Order: sequence, then structure tokens, then C-alpha cells
Amino acid sequence: MLVARAVEAGYPGKQILFGVDLHVARSEVVALLGANGSGKSTVLNTLSGFVRPQAGSIAFDGEEIAGRPPHLVFRRGIIQVSQARDLFTDMSVEDNLRLGAWVRGGAVAELLDSVYRSFPRLAERRRQQVRLMSGGEQQMVALGRALMGSPKLLLLDEPSGGLAPAFVNEIAAIIKALKARGIAMMMIEQNIKLALSIADRFLILRNGRVSEHHDTRAGRASEEEIVRSIYL
Ligand SMILES: Nc1ncnc2c1ncn2[C@@H]1O[C@H](COP(=O)(O)OP(=O)(O)OP(=O)(O)O)[C@@H](O)[C@H]1O
Ligand SMILES: [Mg+2]
Repeated sequence: MLVARAVEAGYPGKQILFGVDLHVARSEVVALLGANGSGKSTVLNTLSGFVRPQAGSIAFDGEEIAGRPPHLVFRRGIIQVSQARDLFTDMSVEDNLRLGAWVRGGAVAELLDSVYRSFPRLAERRRQQVRLMSGGEQQMVALGRALMGSPKLLLLDEPSGGLAPAFVNEIAAIIKALKARGIAMMMIEQNIKLALSIADRFLILRNGRVSEHHDTRAGRASEEEIVRSIYL
């Protein structure tokens, strides 16, 4: 469904990605691992159009999307939940969710129902301002808003980042349920155990390149070995 080839990207005066190759098949969950600063968020931001690649190609459903602006990529069904979450914190939970359906359209009432079924906590707090919610609840709003856009490919940037263990488990259960629904995902995760428990495959990013590639379905990957290849 998504095929990226030899992608080079970065920021003014600073190249970060030096030829990234990756793919995500339909209904597949791929984890993107790597040390802090290795360029993981830059990969997702390039796939979603927020960072413009200098070279390489990104094909989605057979269509070239490299260099397309974010709203057009979004319209194709690639929806990102950024590391910063980017919520409108003075607005209510429900208004944030509604915004998620705006560009892609769809039956908003049904989409809201479906999100509230996945996140009963959000249903209880639908009128609450987002800034009054905990980090874990805000992560649920961000995920819920992405689901309102009926994603074909969900890009998750550290969904468990900064959350207490109880919330990590809750978010993990939700991501597993989305996987069971057949939503393809590329997920950045520092929590290796969590990543391995969900992903079909994982990639390790190092110095702006994919240095390793593992299929978790092929057998048990040792967590210790993975940590070693990420950090040493
Ligand atoms: N907007 C920006 N402008 C300039 N440099 C940036 C920008 N965003 C990120 N960088 C730099 O790009 C490099 C890779 O950053 P990136 O956020 O992609 O890493 P990451 O692997 O997601 O790290 P982390 O695990 O800390 O989230 C870093 O050196 C960072 O300082
Ligand atoms: Mg990051």
C-alpha cells in the first residue's frame, strides 16, 4: 500500500534522512524503532507531507505522493498522530473529534459513535475542554480524532510516550483493536515490548537509514538484541 524508496529529507541546512526504503502492506503494522534523534519523526513527517523530501519516491496506493502538501496526503487517507498531539486544547473533546472528519468527510454521527465505543472515557468527557484532561486522555483524543478521518494508513508517533503504565496498557489494547479491524499502521515506539507485541514487522533507523528489518511473525526477536542494535 505504501512504498518509499531512497527518501532523502531534512530541514534547512540539515539533511536527516539519507535514503530511506520502507513499505507497509495493507492491514500491516510496522514499528519504526531507533535512538533519540535518529530521524523517526522526520520519517513520519515526510510520509505525511509535513516535511518535503529532497529526493526519492513515496507511492501510496500506486500514486506518487512525495512532495504533496499535507492536506492532500491526508485526503488520500494517510493520517498522522504527531508526537506533540497538536490538539486544540481550548476546545471540547467532541469538537476536536469533529475536526478529524472535516477533510475526509463521512457520516460524522456514526464516526463519533464508533470512536466513543473504542474510547468510553472520551464519551464521558465529550463536553470537557481538552486542556483539562490527563496526558493519557489527550492521547486518546488525538487517536480518536485520527480515526474520525477513516484512515487507510495511520502514522503513530510514540503513542505511549510519557504515559503511566495503566494508560500504556489501555492505548496498547486500543491499537491492537484497530489492527484487528485491518487498519494499517506505522508506529514509532520507544517501548520495545509494546512495539513487539503489536507489530508484524519492525525497522531500525540509524543515521537516517533503515539499518535493520525484522519480521516478528518469523519468530521471537530478542528484546535485548533489539535494544543493543538500536543504542550501541
Ligand atoms: N523542525 C526542525 N528543524 C530543524 N531540525 C529538526 C527539526 N525537527 C527535528 N530536527 C532535527 O532532526 C533530527 C532528527 O529528529 P527527529 O525528531 O526526526 O528524531 P526522532 O528519532 O523522532 O527523535 P525522538 O526519539 O527524540 O523523538 C534531530 O537532530 C533534530 O534536532
Ligand atoms: Mg520523534
